[in-house]
Amino acid sequence: MQITTSSHDPCDTRADLLALPLTQLGDEGDAGALPPAVRRMDRRLGGVIAAAVASGDFRGSAGQTALLYPDGGQGSDTKIRRVLLVGLGKDGKVTGERLRRSGGSAVRRAGRGKSQRVSFWLPRIKGLSAPDAARAVAEGCVLGGYRFDDYRDLGDAEPGRVRTVTIFSSGEKQLAAVRKATKIGRILAEGQNLARDLSNAPGNDLPPSKLASEARRVARATGLACQVMDVAELRRRKMGGILAVGGGSTRTPRLIVLEHKARRKSAPTVCLVGKGVTFDSGGISIKPSAGMEEMKHDMSGAAAVVGAMQAVAELALPLHVVGVIGAAENLPSGSAYRPGDVVRTSSGKTIEVLNTDAEGRVVLADALHYARTRFSPDAMVDLATLTGACMVALGEAASGLFGSDEELIERVRAAGDKAGERAWPLPLLDEHRRAVKSTIADVKNTAGRDAGASTAAAFLQAFTGDTPWVHLDIAGTGWTSAATPCQIKGGTGVGVRLLLQMLLDW
Ligand code: BES
Ligand code: MN
Ligand code: ZN
Repeated sequence: MQITTSSHDPCDTRADLLALPLTQLGDEGDAGALPPAVRRMDRRLGGVIAAAVASGDFRGSAGQTALLYPDGGQGSDTKIRRVLLVGLGKDGKVTGERLRRSGGSAVRRAGRGKSQRVSFWLPRIKGLSAPDAARAVAEGCVLGGYRFDDYRDLGDAEPGRVRTVTIFSSGEKQLAAVRKATKIGRILAEGQNLARDLSNAPGNDLPPSKLASEARRVARATGLACQVMDVAELRRRKMGGILAVGGGSTRTPRLIVLEHKARRKSAPTVCLVGKGVTFDSGGISIKPSAGMEEMKHDMSGAAAVVGAMQAVAELALPLHVVGVIGAAENLPSGSAYRPGDVVRTSSGKTIEVLNTDAEGRVVLADALHYARTRFSPDAMVDLATLTGACMVALGEAASGLFGSDEELIERVRAAGDKAGERAWPLPLLDEHRRAVKSTIADVKNTAGRDAGASTAAAFLQAFTGDTPWVHLDIAGTGWTSAATPCQIKGGTGVGVRLLLQMLLDW
């Protein structure tokens, strides 16, 4: 999808669909309450907007839409085939997320019909700058256009595709800033869509080796450096954690590294670490079969890292950013690791395995240690679909946020707020660190049900040394069964926008 910007009157540009987001109008259905710019456009569209408002059918409540066909009759010079009114809700309460959704609605509605060229008129929003608003709309358009049709033949039911979106923002002066923000929004959303593609890919089609080749493909296309370690290399490096978890599958584990080098040698280094369990059956501690298919998404942390690294490269950020992914498939078999095993990780620390279904932390133990010792980062952020406990605590509303460094925690929290991907701080206490101590090894991989998300974080912390570190538990946010204008059912690609916001603000 191509996204461009313009400061002209949208009515002067040919479009299959013109989206007009409007804040909430009064009860009276008073067309006079429409913003002057909209009234001006409506005059050229034959008065269809005033008619929709006067009828009471459209009031501009959040998420409401109305599709109108401009009157092309006598006296009209319209180049606009369809108008989509999109409600933004109460004036003064319009958030970036509302605008994102209006972009998503526009593209979705356009795609359902035959609209390939979409114009989007950007209103002035109280409390949001024009560039911020344009960025949210651009994100929404790209996210709303996301589909996952690689694995079926749609035949004649193939929906239309929006080819171009032009965002119209009045004010010549701001246009350069609006253009830049639009580009950022598009790149972030494309990174997020890439993460969704990876997350949605079925387990049979995305073993660790394929996750690695996808990372390599992204690296080639964007100029990132990419290194993939196979089993022989993992053995040489004594990465007993990744090897143990991946040991039950014939489709062998990998450690994947993506690196974006800054031009400036002194630039800070940030490591992004992802859990890449391409399918999590639970292993010998096998999961119940109901819902197990969802565990194809258990590499959503890794997906976010790949998507974020693509965006980092495309934006040429002036930072040294490294993505590290531990990829393994967790299956039961004659070669699988078992409850009671003691596993020696690359850090030298040993793990007592009490439950083979607590595998993400075992994989991350080696990935975190590698990131820390190989790159000496200024900060390290890991993303993992780590615990059902986090899902119980926060649902889909927010990712669980833990860490060893208050400043970094706040940085990540603020970035999530700004990017529209909330992360909520949860406790990581001495009690939790004590709870994962083992009687026969250095740590054990589960401390039972109580405080499950916090003890999982405490386990990870044992492998982070004194590097400032944050852990995002995306078990509840990584995929969804409820569609919204910017999100179909399945992988969400959560984390990409948050990570990029953090890096943009670094
Ligand atoms: N991948 C799961 C966590 C998960 C569960 C993510 C549901 C999303 C939805 C993880 O590997 C796991 O199985 N965790 C266990 C840990 C337990 C055995 C200590 C859990 O949360 O039940
Ligand atoms: Mn598991
Ligand atoms: Zn898992």
